[in-house]
Amino acid sequence: MISVIAQYSFPIRTEDDVVIVRRKARQVAQGRRLDPFATAAITTAVSELSRNVLVHGGGGTALLEELSDGTRYGIRAIFEDQGPGIAQLERALSGGYSTTKTMGLGLSGSKRLADRFDVTTEVGKGTTIRIEKWQPG
Ligand SMILES: Nc1ncnc2c1ncn2[C@@H]1O[C@H](COP(=O)(O)OP(=O)(O)O)[C@@H](O)[C@H]1O
Ligand SMILES: [Mg+2]
Repeated sequence: MISVIAQYSFPIRTEDDVVIVRRKARQVAQGRRLDPFATAAITTAVSELSRNVLVHGGGGTALLEELSDGTRYGIRAIFEDQGPGIAQLERALSGGYSTTKTMGLGLSGSKRLADRFDVTTEVGKGTTIRIEKWQPG
């Protein structure tokens, strides 16, 4: 059973907000003794997905959760926006596809870096992305 030890919620309206969420993710990962690889992975994924909320979603929220399953610690991050949604989800997840002429590697990279990755998106309604990263066990 997974329990939530602590939660931190953030608005994402500006580039500064993205930096703040990224910093908190790193701090929590280090505080929970995730190894340097897992720490870098969650920090990078949180940064990419927060930026997507800002750039593609028109702003929204991030929720960071410290988790324990009784043996290991983990981090969950949930990103929500009420933006346009992701019309071409398959393409967006496969990588190298961008509607803003940037690298198009944020979603695919984050998926690869996370232990769990779930997307719910509806065109015209918004997007929710949930990731988890656990201590290597
Ligand atoms: N929160 C979001 N809301 C709407 N569209 C999104 C969102 N996140 C990603 N997308 C879409 O998926 C594409 C790929 O995202 P990503 O892999 O991060 O690359 P990039 O941000 O460089 O475009 C984006 O160009 C955009 O069309
Ligand atoms: Mg991106």
